[in-house]
Amino acid sequence: MLSKTIQEALNNQILMEAESSQAYLAMACWAEIQPGLEGVTDFFYLQSDEERQHMLKLVRFVNERGGFAAIPALPQPMLTFPSIGKLFSEFLQHELKVSNSINDLVHLSLAEKDYATHNFLQWYVNEQIEEERTARTLNDKLEMIGDDRSGLYLFDRDIMNVTTGK
Ligand code: FEO
Repeated sequence: MLSKTIQEALNNQILMEAESSQAYLAMACWAEIQPGLEGVTDFFYLQSDEERQHMLKLVRFVNERGGFAAIPALPQPMLTFPSIGKLFSEFLQHELKVSNSINDLVHLSLAEKDYATHNFLQWYVNEQIEEERTARTLNDKLEMIGDDRSGLYLFDRDIMNVTTGK
């Protein structure tokens, strides 16, 4: 059985994963209406789907442990971006925020002696390592490319290979 404290913290994480899914969906839409960013578009549609899975995993866990997953209202995410560099730096900042939140949850689960939740959260700890790595790699590549159009062409073509192959 979940304590009220843990239930509330997990519900906050449900909100965060849902916000991530919405934010990346908006990024996919922005990329889709730019010329020549088909790879980036597919990447963010996929990221959005994955975040929804992260949310659902939490929803099912909360309900299965005798809690109640409260599906939240969502604020509108950022819709437009001044550049592809800004798009990907927002992506990294967002993932860092999620990692901090997961770390706080892990800490709380230990403080509350909720070892089942602590165990459950390890999947998210590992997932964040991967997602941060991907976001950092993509930001590094974009920094190298700068304003080089042919570099950007290759970046868009190869973006799916940079991810973890999920
Ligand atoms: Fe589910 Fe990328 O945080």
